[in-house]
Amino acid sequence: MEKKRILTGDRPTGPLHLGHYVGSVANRVKLQDEYDAFVIMADIQMLTTHFEHPEKLHQDVLNVAMDNLACGLDPAKATLFIQSMVPQIAELTVIYSNLVTVQQLSHNPTIKTEAAQYNFGESMPLGFLSYPVSQAADITFCRAHLVPVGEDQLPHIEQTRKIVRKFNATYAPVLVEPDAKVSEVPRLVGLDGNTKMSKSLGNAIFLSDPPEEVKRKVSTALTDPARIHPTDKGHPDVCVVYAYHKVFNPEGAADIEQRCKAGTIGCVPCKKLLVDVLNRFLAPIRERRAVYEKDPDSVWDILNKGTARAYEEGAATMALVREAMKIAYFPQ
Ligand code: TRP
Ligand code: SF4
Repeated sequence: MEKKRILTGDRPTGPLHLGHYVGSVANRVKLQDEYDAFVIMADIQMLTTHFEHPEKLHQDVLNVAMDNLACGLDPAKATLFIQSMVPQIAELTVIYSNLVTVQQLSHNPTIKTEAAQYNFGESMPLGFLSYPVSQAADITFCRAHLVPVGEDQLPHIEQTRKIVRKFNATYAPVLVEPDAKVSEVPRLVGLDGNTKMSKSLGNAIFLSDPPEEVKRKVSTALTDPARIHPTDKGHPDVCVVYAYHKVFNPEGAADIEQRCKAGTIGCVPCKKLLVDVLNRFLAPIRERRAVYEKDPDSVWDILNKGTARAYEEGAATMALVREAMKIAYFPQ
């Protein structure tokens, strides 16, 4: 039986961080055996917030690809590809634009949050407002069944489903309506306690950070502000260090919670424990990344092959779409 297909991916805005790992990358690595996995380097989507910096994309596409491979994505199983090199995604975006209202887009909660973060105010780029339409094309160009993502992406998957239903009802039922699969691990907060770990907020630990950098960053992490002496009774629930222990040190977390509450562990040793846990977790990822860093051509080769396969899928879908819309004027 043919495998079902997943599509997921990231904006290449820099190297991936622990939040990406927990929210999405771990899931895609886990699912790559059971599913035919497509992983998009969404360079066009990156331009919706950083249009003036296309020169960064070359390095960051490479970074994101290397991070995915370092986390265990296997190029023999998964198809890594570059969004801008699959023109059918752009074609579908234009066609889908007619099936969405500006109203719907401006009510998208993730768009609202990000728009505030980028301070667009009255001058929101059209491309930014409509990137969920482009994301619908990212997902549907290969007729994906499932989209493993972090929770913040759910409005976009919902928007995609709406577009697919509208397309199928209006023209002919050729598109696949995808389901979302949200990571079981709750979102990882930033080191500063911000609800989102993000490069632009400067509160992220990157998968490619060396051990000393992890140590330095953890030392800046927000702890229970009410705790002054190591013997003060602490409140782990308001502590970022504890939140990370829960995710990366699940066996040790209960003990830490209890000792923090009792005032029998200080924040300094507690942070030291976390640094060790994170560095043990990151060690094999760093090791695999180092191999790719020495040979970037091999990564471009993986992207090149993956993009060629994505292009074929895009062409097949566009043929169905043209047929459905009765605009297959002559064979292509
Ligand atoms: N919007 C996603 C993010 O910011 C990245 C992305 C682009 C994506 N296209 C996608 C995710 C398609 C899932 C499916 O992380
Ligand atoms: Fe946080 Fe650990 Fe300090 Fe408690 S002891 S406040 S869990 S860093």
